[in-house]
Amino acid sequence: MSVHLNVKKVTTHVLHEMKLRHEKISMLTAYDYSMAKIIDQAGIDVILVGDSASNVMAGHDSTLPITLDEMIYHACSVVRAVKRALIVVDLPFGSYQGNSMLALSSAIRIMKETGAHAVKMEGGKEIKESIERILSAGIPVMGHLGLTPQSIHKFGTYVVRAKEELEAKKLIEDAHLLEESGCFGIVLEKIPAKLAAQVAAELYTPIIGIGAGPDVDGQVLVIHDMLGITQEFSPRFLRRYHNLAGEIKGAVQNYIQDVKNLDFPNEKESY
Ligand code: KIV
Repeated sequence: MSVHLNVKKVTTHVLHEMKLRHEKISMLTAYDYSMAKIIDQAGIDVILVGDSASNVMAGHDSTLPITLDEMIYHACSVVRAVKRALIVVDLPFGSYQGNSMLALSSAIRIMKETGAHAVKMEGGKEIKESIERILSAGIPVMGHLGLTPQSIHKFGTYVVRAKEELEAKKLIEDAHLLEESGCFGIVLEKIPAKLAAQVAAELYTPIIGIGAGPDVDGQVLVIHDMLGITQEFSPRFLRRYHNLAGEIKGAVQNYIQDVKNLDFPNEKESY
């Protein structure tokens, strides 16, 4: 029987076991109680309280503005809903880069104030000291390499990363470094499928891809994108499983019509 059907609670250990048994890991973002409850009940393995909340919840054009307090607010709502999935929370921009004591204190706030199970951080060698300090406090860390949206102003664009040999070599080195440091998983975002497959094959650590092809240990998408709530964002890697924006608009238009036509509320809907 597959590992994920057997477990009542997904832990970092379960993810390693899934990799060993070649069972793919499913991961989605969530930022609020109601959505987290639905996707947990549907059987998702990992829920990421992503800093993509900055885009899809708050309407910013990057992940940079979201604050640690705001991430904690979202994470608390998700934790209250979830019974089974492993909950990972993004450390937001400015809460860990360049200062490992600040990084530790940000990670401790997330773990203490939200009850989530792990944190995620973008970068490799540059943030090694912060990752190791957080791990030394017993806090599980997930890495994130490739397209790292918190560095968008350094990259300049959201195009595929690590196509050039030098950048691919650095990504492979960083992935090994994250594994050696003790990260329990690594997200690889928007890199060539062949490179992602190589990293997944070389490492014991579970590799979760987003725009990284099929030959990794699991996949992650932003829930608003895969449900078709966001409409403008259409990268090649995104599969839309629903047109929720269209469904919601239709329902709202029906409601407006019913209100205007005095159809709502009717007698049965009144006291
Ligand atoms: O914040 C986020 O949603 C993420 C995923 C894209 C992996 O980091």
